[in-house]
Amino acid sequence: MKNRILVTGATGQVGRYLVQSLQEKGYQDVVLAVRNPDNVIDLPYPLVEMDYNKPNTIKLALNGIDSIFMMTGYTIDMLQQSKVFIDIAKQSGVRYIVHLGACGDDNAQVAHWAWHQLIERYIEWSGIQFTHLRPESYMQNLLGYQGENSTDKGVLHSYFGDAILSWVDCADVAELAAHCLISPEQHYGQVYRLGYENKTYSQIAALLTDELNLPFRYQANDPQEFWDFAQSNALELAYMKSIYDHYVAFTAGELSREGMVFDNFQKITKKAPVSVKEFLIKHQDYFK
Ligand SMILES: NC(=O)c1ccc[n+]([C@@H]2O[C@H](COP(=O)([O-])OP(=O)(O)OC[C@H]3O[C@@H](n4cnc5c(N)ncnc54)[C@H](OP(=O)(O)O)[C@@H]3O)[C@@H](O)[C@H]2O)c1
Repeated sequence: MKNRILVTGATGQVGRYLVQSLQEKGYQDVVLAVRNPDNVIDLPYPLVEMDYNKPNTIKLALNGIDSIFMMTGYTIDMLQQSKVFIDIAKQSGVRYIVHLGACGDDNAQVAHWAWHQLIERYIEWSGIQFTHLRPESYMQNLLGYQGENSTDKGVLHSYFGDAILSWVDCADVAELAAHCLISPEQHYGQVYRLGYENKTYSQIAALLTDELNLPFRYQANDPQEFWDFAQSNALELAYMKSIYDHYVAFTAGELSREGMVFDNFQKITKKAPVSVKEFLIKHQDYFK
């Protein structure tokens, strides 16, 4: 059966890896939805202009599409954008959506995790077949987050206090998404939580020191500094307040991810997920 895949967010962290995964698998029937096609020169599939805030572009982009990788960015607009997008997907006869969500089980209360779960429910209500991806912390956060660096002169810092996190490389999120998109029936109705290794930031600083021979120490910053940064750098504050709140909760020891490591990646892809150590080695130039 024809299965034309539309990838949203193809210029983003996960999206770029997804394009690579689909290409490596030799999958050809792919269209990339991007906001500014004129600015994109290095992606290997046909582009279609699509802006979540312009419903007419969504209608055109979804014409003839069977399966979608659906992701939104780090703003509260994700709610309204997703609703409009799913409504149009339903009208367009889309059969399958792989949704990029966020951490947690169904009881998640952190706002941006819960917003993603509301979108999941809306997808289910639409009647379109689905797979929900719920990644824990991206290892890419170790390279910077929302314009802030995570390292400075041998100091690794975060606003998570000493919390245990569960980590996943965006490349692995993308690889699992590619498997779903290429073989939808095998993944219909599934919720995959993606987090494959527990580590605190102190343990990651120790890995940098011991394994890469780069002397690093960890410094836990006050979440208030993040909130000041978000306000003075004109970040979108509804979403960033949720990030601030979850930093406060993590720092207070309320959201430990201890034990939240999953075995779905190996089962689905027949490969081992990237370890934190492998990620640090892959990106060692950044830490040098
Ligand atoms: N960071 C984490 O640890 C973590 C963990 C779990 C889940 N997540 C989730 O991951 C998602 C973000 O993934 P990411 O880091 O890969 O994102 P990203 O690198 O910030 O990329 C965002 C993408 O969305 C596109 N985009 C933004 N606004 C758009 C619009 N109005 N219309 C069409 N496209 C638009 C951007 O395109 P342009 O190139 O045009 O800007 C870009 O391709 C969020 O939903 C977040 O909740 C993150």
